[in-house]
Amino acid sequence: MSGTTDLKGDTTIVVLGASGDLAKKKTFPSLIRLFERNLLPEDTAILGYARTKMEQKEFHDRIAPNLKTQKEETKQKFLDICRYVPGAYDEAGAFQNLNKEIEEVEKKRGGKGCNRIFYLALPPNVFASVAEQLKKNCYAESGVNRVVIEKPFGKDLESCQELIDGMKNLWSEKETFRIDHYLGKEMVKNILPFRFSNPLVDMSLNNKTVENVQITFKENFGTEGRGGYFDEFGIIRDIQQNHLCQVFCLLAMDTPDSFDAEAIRDQKVKLLKETKPISTDEVLLGQYTAANGKPGYKDDDTVPKDSNTPTYAAIVLHVDNDRWRGVPFIMKAGKALDEGKVDIRVQYKEPKQQMVAEVARNELVLRVQPGEAIYVKSNTKVPGQDSASVPAELDLTYSKRFKNMYIPEAYEALILDCIQGRHSNFVRDDELLASWSIFTPLLHAIDEGKVPCTTYPYGSRGPEKLDEFMAKFGYQHDKNYVWPETDVAKYAEKL
Ligand code: BG6
Repeated sequence: MSGTTDLKGDTTIVVLGASGDLAKKKTFPSLIRLFERNLLPEDTAILGYARTKMEQKEFHDRIAPNLKTQKEETKQKFLDICRYVPGAYDEAGAFQNLNKEIEEVEKKRGGKGCNRIFYLALPPNVFASVAEQLKKNCYAESGVNRVVIEKPFGKDLESCQELIDGMKNLWSEKETFRIDHYLGKEMVKNILPFRFSNPLVDMSLNNKTVENVQITFKENFGTEGRGGYFDEFGIIRDIQQNHLCQVFCLLAMDTPDSFDAEAIRDQKVKLLKETKPISTDEVLLGQYTAANGKPGYKDDDTVPKDSNTPTYAAIVLHVDNDRWRGVPFIMKAGKALDEGKVDIRVQYKEPKQQMVAEVARNELVLRVQPGEAIYVKSNTKVPGQDSASVPAELDLTYSKRFKNMYIPEAYEALILDCIQGRHSNFVRDDELLASWSIFTPLLHAIDEGKVPCTTYPYGSRGPEKLDEFMAKFGYQHDKNYVWPETDVAKYAEKL
């Protein structure tokens, strides 16, 4: 056996939706990295399942181009443990056949117990029926069963509740691993350790010191090719309700009683329940238009010509508790912008008394991607005779500080967590419901066309009114300072 796991005996991982994009781009590439790093349970077998009829070789040829390994021979060894089984998503007979195939690989390994992990890389419309068929026809009587599922977990509070109720009688919460892949990103996994192992940091996170918080997601490409899917959801359901909401929880939750999965998730739910539903007056929406030689959102044939779906949103959360009352949490997310990045920016209040001329506000920035980094924008005296203060950073850039360290990709980290039975980085059912309660009134108002949506050109910073919107919530943008390039001496000359 390799990595630690609570799974005793042999393990079969069944990837449903094996011919789809998610499986090809994320699931199999993550599995091979775990295989290469010797982190899969010993004697793991992998079965791909999908509707497409194809031979083993064709299946291997399909997944092989995305499999990246250190040594070429690892690829063949990995493919040797991957088999493909074609079958429908709604026929009991097809799942009974899948069960036979699983039993076959289990027998070949000597029947030393049979744990089964079902990874549903599937579209939401077949999701409930597959979960049911698996429980009825493929559930291991002895051994551990786990089911891994992916967003979207509904479109609003009601549909999410239905989804949860539909699953509840089939799969227990302990067996269910709901993926939000942001919880597998290195910097997101560092939020709790960074806060709770540094009193300096955690003690500064409250309404006495913090002026505002921003959580930003920017992509420099549009929805090209996914317009049909995206149009049903929009940016808030695609990014803010799940990925950014998870980041918000980890940053703003109170100290848990312990660091086990349930204690952490209890605190997240508590925070979400203390967060008010988003007001339709505190929202800025936009949809990108053709510019810089790039197509507009509605130029995609799969997007209705009269679509009002936002591809950009800035929204504001308010937490009604003693720690955070009065501090706006601004969540911004957009597609087809000027750059790609995800970060958290905590902007502090000004010092009560200015020692020298006015100084810039302190900021604590956690950069999730690209290139993990944590830096504190702080003020320091210009070295030498000058007494002016300039902003300079306390900088923990991972590529400089942690040279040659392996940072696993989010899915790789999460699949390993699932194998090891660790739930902390997966979303619990009550977390989902609490989060949807905050977003649903706004989403319904948008769906009903009650919230205006402006436009912005492909490749820009977003809607024109963005700076005005941010200023309304107290954010001060220091245009002269850009991390990490700002030349401090030049900055000082401007003072
Ligand atoms: C997905 C969204 O959940 O996350 C996509 O559906 C988005 O629209 C993607 O592009 C972003 O993930 P990452 O890991 O590239 O930041």
